[in-house]
Amino acid sequence: MIEIHKLSKRYGDTTVVDDASLTIPRGGVVGIVGPNGAGKSTLLSIISRLIKADSGVVRVDGLDVTTAPGREIARRLSIMRQENHVAARLTVRDLVAFGRFPHNRGRPTREDVERVRMAIDFVGLEALADRFLDQLSGGQRQRAFVAMTLAQDADYALFDEPLNNLDIHHAVSMMRLLRRMADQPGKTVVIVLHDLNVAAAYADRVIVMQAGRVVGDGPPFDVIDRRLLSEVFRVDGDVVEVSGRRLVSVAP
Ligand SMILES: Nc1ncnc2c1ncn2[C@@H]1O[C@H](COP(=O)(O)OP(=O)(O)O)[C@@H](O)[C@H]1O
Ligand SMILES: [Mg+2]
Repeated sequence: MIEIHKLSKRYGDTTVVDDASLTIPRGGVVGIVGPNGAGKSTLLSIISRLIKADSGVVRVDGLDVTTAPGREIARRLSIMRQENHVAARLTVRDLVAFGRFPHNRGRPTREDVERVRMAIDFVGLEALADRFLDQLSGGQRQRAFVAMTLAQDADYALFDEPLNNLDIHHAVSMMRLLRRMADQPGKTVVIVLHDLNVAAAYADRVIVMQAGRVVGDGPPFDVIDRRLLSEVFRVDGDVVEVSGRRLVSVAP
């Protein structure tokens, strides 16, 4: 379980995470949605210790992320950030092997090598495993980062807008892949998503952020409605039912 209790973060006079409290139990896919600048990436960065909060507490399986040993947290929680800056002269296999670092501290065992291979296969990059990252398309590179996160084999995997740069085919494969990841026993996948229809189709639960606050939380059917579109996203739209699925429809 990830427990977020009264978390706040300010930059100058601007509060970007505002007294946010939230519990993410183990299991399933949790989608986080909200307008640009709502604080989604900041929240994920605080959970994964990349940024320090001004106040509040984050616990992962009872461990306070600010005081627990980094390695203990890294074995439980992984993150794929919205922007990844990494040396281009690294092969896919090298990158994915970084995911094993919390387990082996840079001294890979046969099990590590096998897990790296499995993660690369899982995202369908086996043919490109020895290519350098700058020889890949944006979508392939995105999948390589997902493989690194998979290889870390943490119980909680956080993904910040993993569908960026992906065409519709690869976006669907990515969501199926994350869904499969979450369907493994004990695994929880938290995904920041822009597309409400994707959230409705794949998430078991949707959390809505607006201006640093958690303003909605529940199953997609309860959360994604007309009011969400107008009050949070400021568009005049509707939620329609097509083949038993709800779809967001916004007039041009
Ligand atoms: N390092 C920073 N310094 C100042 N402001 C920041 C910084 N990082 C983010 N912000 C601001 O915090 C707000 C929330 O950003 P972010 O968490 O990236 O939002 P989201 O991911 O929901 O789009 C935005 O208004 C953004 O401009
Ligand atoms: Mg963001």
